[in-house]
Amino acid sequence: MVVGLGAGSTALYAVQRIAGLLASGQLSDILGVPCSGAVAETAAGLGISLTTLEEHPVVDLTIDGADEVDPSLALIKGGGGALLLEKIVAQASRREIIVVDASKLSPALGTNRTLPIEVVPFGCRAQALFIESLGALARLRRNADGKPFRTDQRNLILDCEIGPIGDPRAFARVLADRAGIVEHGLFVDLATDVVIAGDDGIRHVTRDAEGERS
Ligand code: A5P
Repeated sequence: MVVGLGAGSTALYAVQRIAGLLASGQLSDILGVPCSGAVAETAAGLGISLTTLEEHPVVDLTIDGADEVDPSLALIKGGGGALLLEKIVAQASRREIIVVDASKLSPALGTNRTLPIEVVPFGCRAQALFIESLGALARLRRNADGKPFRTDQRNLILDCEIGPIGDPRAFARVLADRAGIVEHGLFVDLATDVVIAGDDGIRHVTRDAEGERS
């Protein structure tokens, strides 16, 4: 099975669990497609065999986290800065399983979290102005030392405070049309399953190809 290994603190539990099951012999024949350089390093260190989308362009299932989840199972992702590879792997996956705790649920994307937008360094301020013309506040993500955060692709991230997004699909199209914006953290129609941990236990919500939830 080809398994996408998501980035972030929640997805790390899945990576560790997969490694544990492989070590105990309960799982075998798993190839991981890591969603970031850091995940690749961790997974390889834990003994998970890795592959690439060049070798395996179809991923059976991916397990990843999310920053915000709306009632239609659209997501904001990219808190860890790996949104581009995460979206490429998600779009190549037959199943995209998102694991969150209940604090990530929200009535509308953008209510509780900023939207990460990955931009090429060239013209970065022009992208910030463009995003602000859409009614958002765009802040350049920085590391603890004050230097601009760089993605695995050496791009920059603008964290955009936008408030509740009425139509994430339409907003995603506006962002996708803009040269210089490499990718954004709106994941619409990508999650097939969301597993939610809350005070009352674990809930597993699924979405079929027509977008129906169960
Ligand atoms: C990484 O870029 C992200 O998309 C993460 O999946 C997301 O930020 C959730 O991270 P945590 O599981 O650490 O909250």
